[in-house]
Amino acid sequence: MIPKSGNRFSEKIMRKKESSMSDQVTVTDEGPVRIVRMNRPDKKNALTMAMYDAMAEAIETAPKSGLRCLLIAGSPAAFCAGNDIGDFLKAAGAGGALGAPILRFLYALARCELPLAAAVRGNAIGVGTTMLMHCDHVVVASDARFATPFVALGLVPEAASSLIAPRLMGQARAFSLLVMGRPLNADEAKAAGLVNTVVAPDAVEAEAMKAAAEIAALPPQGVALSRRLMRGPPDEIVKRIDEEAELFKARLQSPEAQAAFQAFMMRKR
Ligand code: COA
Repeated sequence: MIPKSGNRFSEKIMRKKESSMSDQVTVTDEGPVRIVRMNRPDKKNALTMAMYDAMAEAIETAPKSGLRCLLIAGSPAAFCAGNDIGDFLKAAGAGGALGAPILRFLYALARCELPLAAAVRGNAIGVGTTMLMHCDHVVVASDARFATPFVALGLVPEAASSLIAPRLMGQARAFSLLVMGRPLNADEAKAAGLVNTVVAPDAVEAEAMKAAAEIAALPPQGVALSRRLMRGPPDEIVKRIDEEAELFKARLQSPEAQAAFQAFMMRKR
């Protein structure tokens, strides 16, 4: 439950409504906060096309549903292991285009009118990390880990991370993360400006919900206008998403990427 804000609007719409848009993504409205939870723990929340669609739908419909903040969350042992690598292999075989649901999700993040919060436990890999660059308030577990092994996989950065990461953390740290693929631990991610708060793993969800409720209790127009001023026009972000997607498409079919995907699928543990 969100804490009592004393705000009449949030009291009026205080409700808990669960609508599962896909088995692997659950969407729960708690008062003015919509929790979008990746729920494929057996695959460390690697994202499938159905999951991208469900998350995009939840983000796109939130403003019309009278909500005031979105909270993206994962499972206790994993936030998100990135795109499903089996799907990357299939996409490469089918001409390499990023699936429409992926682009729909990335556009939904870029164009989202509501503030976005996130609660991260475990690994945030690939788009698991780059989606956080679109978030306004990120709470993570002290043992969370962030990595974008795009180049090692023969790929290029996505989700406009090539634009946002250098702005957020500076060229040097962005290069280390996005190109060299060096992971960040929770404290490093906080120092890099990707994360607001680091707490014990069992405190992440409550802390993130508290922050989301705090944001949701603010005057919504003031939040929306301030957020837009700070983030700049979404069209710039969308343009970069498209530029990256074109390169990504070519890279998906590259021998480098094919070899990396095969190695992951065939690895012995
Ligand atoms: N795509 C498809 N399946 C994935 C996956 C992905 N991105 N990430 C994890 N999985 C699957 C594993 O194949 C495994 O499936 P199995 O049990 O059927 O063999 C299951 O999820 C558990 O993964 P496992 O590697 O055993 O868990 P772990 O805790 O040891 O490691 C990760 C977790 C996230 C560090 C590791 O799975 C990983 O590196 N995944 C790939 C991340 C990646 O490169 N994503 C693409 C970024 S662009």
